[in-house]
Amino acid sequence: MAERLCPVWVGYLLASPVRKLVQNPKKILAPYVEEGMKVLDIGCAMGFFSLPLAKMVGSIGKVICVDMQEKMIRSLEKRAQKEKLSSRIDTRICHQNSLGIDDLKDEIDFALAFAVVHEVPDIGALFSQIWETIKPAGRLLVAEPGGHVSENDFKITVSVAEQNGFQAVDSPRISLSRVVLLEKKY
Ligand SMILES: C[S@@+](CC[C@H](N)C(=O)[O-])C[C@H]1O[C@@H](n2cnc3c(N)ncnc32)[C@H](O)[C@@H]1O
Repeated sequence: MAERLCPVWVGYLLASPVRKLVQNPKKILAPYVEEGMKVLDIGCAMGFFSLPLAKMVGSIGKVICVDMQEKMIRSLEKRAQKEKLSSRIDTRICHQNSLGIDDLKDEIDFALAFAVVHEVPDIGALFSQIWETIKPAGRLLVAEPGGHVSENDFKITVSVAEQNGFQAVDSPRISLSRVVLLEKKY
């Protein structure tokens, strides 16, 4: 599978409000996120999904935002501050093969991995770390860019997720994306 790291300048484009016209975070996430939830945003970049998630989980919820690029995280923190959402957000700069989320065992209600899996060298390790954090029957939504990730590569991604304790339960439709909704299996 390809290994590409999203440049910071693309991070600015991805955080643009214009993107909402094709990928509206609230519409995409509404079926899975409720007030009070603890949510994990993996490869959050500058927070295109993290900030709407923070609004959706409300003041008693939390969004843990993980990215390996410090510049992405710093920009997300500034945006969260501007929107007065900092108290709902926990930012973490991680390493390429370690998300640094070992302290979250069985705590996460919902995890999002949007346009990040194809950038990760060891996706088995990625799914196994996410699995550890998710509560029983918690869910993980994986979306990959249709332009970068072939149908076959996406099938491989889903099968690696299944080998690491997830079960595919749905294939929601999101523009320009290949998508699977996964549930933690025991
Ligand atoms: C294409 S961007 C997608 C950003 C965001 N999810 C969105 O849809 O707007 C991918 C992000 O994943 C991050 N990333 C890549 N490899 C990663 C890894 N191994 N662990 C954590 N984050 C990673 C990149 O730094 C980048 O910010």
